[in-house]
Amino acid sequence: MKQKPGWVLPDLKEAQKRTANTIDRIDTFTIPEAARMMGRGKTYFISTYGCQANERDSETLAGILDELGFTPNETAEGSDVIIINTCAIRQNAEEKVLGEIGNFKRLYHENKDLIIGVCGCMAQEEGLVETLLTKYPQVRLLFGTHNIQELPSMLYSCMFEGKKVVKIYSKEGEVYENLPVHRFGTFKAWVNIMYGCDKFCTYCIVPYTRGKQRSRKMSEILKEVQQLKDEGYKEITLLGQNVNAYGKDMDNEQDFATLLEEVAKIGIPRVRFTTSHPWDFSEQMIDIIAKYDNIMPFIHLPLQSGDDDVLKLMGRRYTKESYLALYDKIINTIPNVAVSTDIIVGFPNETDEQFEHTLDVVRYCKYDNAFTFIFSARPGTPASRMHDSIDMETKRKRLATLNKTWNDLALEKNKAYIGRTVTVLVDGPSKKDENVYSGYTDTQKLVNFKGENLQAGDFVEVKILDAKTFSLDGVAV
Ligand code: 5AD
Ligand code: SF4
Repeated sequence: MKQKPGWVLPDLKEAQKRTANTIDRIDTFTIPEAARMMGRGKTYFISTYGCQANERDSETLAGILDELGFTPNETAEGSDVIIINTCAIRQNAEEKVLGEIGNFKRLYHENKDLIIGVCGCMAQEEGLVETLLTKYPQVRLLFGTHNIQELPSMLYSCMFEGKKVVKIYSKEGEVYENLPVHRFGTFKAWVNIMYGCDKFCTYCIVPYTRGKQRSRKMSEILKEVQQLKDEGYKEITLLGQNVNAYGKDMDNEQDFATLLEEVAKIGIPRVRFTTSHPWDFSEQMIDIIAKYDNIMPFIHLPLQSGDDDVLKLMGRRYTKESYLALYDKIINTIPNVAVSTDIIVGFPNETDEQFEHTLDVVRYCKYDNAFTFIFSARPGTPASRMHDSIDMETKRKRLATLNKTWNDLALEKNKAYIGRTVTVLVDGPSKKDENVYSGYTDTQKLVNFKGENLQAGDFVEVKILDAKTFSLDGVAV
C-alpha cells in the first residue's frame, strides 16, 4: 500500500500479491450505545451502481445507518448523508458515477453540513482516489469495499470533528458475519456466499477492487437462508463473483454443489445463484440443479469470447470446445433450462476471424439473454498493457452485429413460449396501468400480464400470448 500523508492509497500491484493468510471471520461488530443517537432527525440516501454485490453492500450500509438512527430518504435532495456506492468494471460505469458526484455539488453548496460519501470499487482504484480527492471537494468521505464496517466511526469524524475521512483497504482476508442489513426487497433477497475473486482474468479489475476470495462458513449461510424463509421470502439469490469456487479457500474444503443442495432443502420456493465461471462448474452441480424443483433452471454462463487464442489471453482457463461440452451437459440434464452469458468484443488485437468464432458459439447456444460489452482497459490489469491494433469503429460494429445475432435468436426462443402457461413470481403492478403486472418466470423471463387483485410476492399462472426480445406478454389464468 502506498502511504500518503493522512491516508493509504490502494495499490493494484500490491493487491495482486495474494498471501495465503488465513481468513479472519469476525462477528463482534457493535454500535456503541451513544452512536445510536447520531442520526436522529437526519436522513440518508444511497445511490448504487454496478453488480448485485454492490446492491447487497448498500443493504449493509443502510442497515448500519438505520442503527445509527438515520431515516432513509427517497431522494438525494434534502438528505443529510448521501452515499454513492460505485462500480469500476468499465470506464463508462465510472463516467456515470463521476457525473452524478458532479451533480451533487449543487446540493453541497446549498448545505455545507451535507456529507457526500463515495465507496465501492472506484474507491479501490489508485488513480481515481487522487481524482476524487483533488477535483471533487464536495466528497467528504471516501472508503473502500473492505471498510464498510467502519462507517459509524467514519461518519462520526465527518459530522462532529469536521474531518474529511479517507479509509481504503484494511486487511485482505476478512469476513464480517454480523453486520446489520436493511433489505430493499420484501420477498426477494440476496445472500452473499463469498467475497472477492482469485481468477485474475486479464481484463478484469474485480480481483483488485474486491480482494481475495473469501467464502462464508456454510453454517452461517444456511442460518441466513433459514431466517429469510421464516420471514416469508420467496426467492433468494446466492451471490459470489464465481460461486462454483465456493469453499476452495477454506481449510475444511466445502463445495458449491453441497451448499446449493443444503440451501434447496430449506425450502424457499425459488433459489438462484450468480455468477458461475465455466471453469469449475462441476457435474455434481448440474445434477443438483436438475434434482431440486426449487433451484431455478436458469444459468448465467459467461463466455467472454468464442476464440481459443483470445480466451487464453483473457486468462479464462477453458476452450470453446470445453465450454460447448459444458453447455451441452447443462442443456441435456436440466429440463427447460435457460442460459444467459457475458461477452466482450474488441479485446486487444481481436481479429475478424476470432470475432466470428464468438458468433459461432452464440449461434450454437442461442442464449436467452446476453450482456455484451466493448473491451475497456482497466488501469493496472494485464490487458490494459497490451498494445491494441483494433479501432473503436470496428469494435462498435462488432458489438452491433453481436447484439443483432443474439437478439434475433432470443426472440425465436421467446416465441416458443406463446400458448404455454408459466408460473410467475409477481413484482407488482405497472406504473401506467394497475391491471397490468410484471414478474419473472423460473427461467428469468420478464412477463407483463393482465391480472386482478395480485400482490407483489404472489405466484400466479400466466398464459403467454405474445413474445418480444426482452419480455413476454400474457394473461393470468
Ligand atoms: N471491459 C469490458 N467488459 C468487462 N467485463 C469485465 N471487465 C471488463 C472490461 N475490462 C465484463 C465481463 C464480465 C462482466 C461482469 O463485465 O463480461 O463478465
Ligand atoms: Fe473478473 Fe474473471 Fe473474477 Fe469474473 S472470474 S470477477 S471476470 S476476474
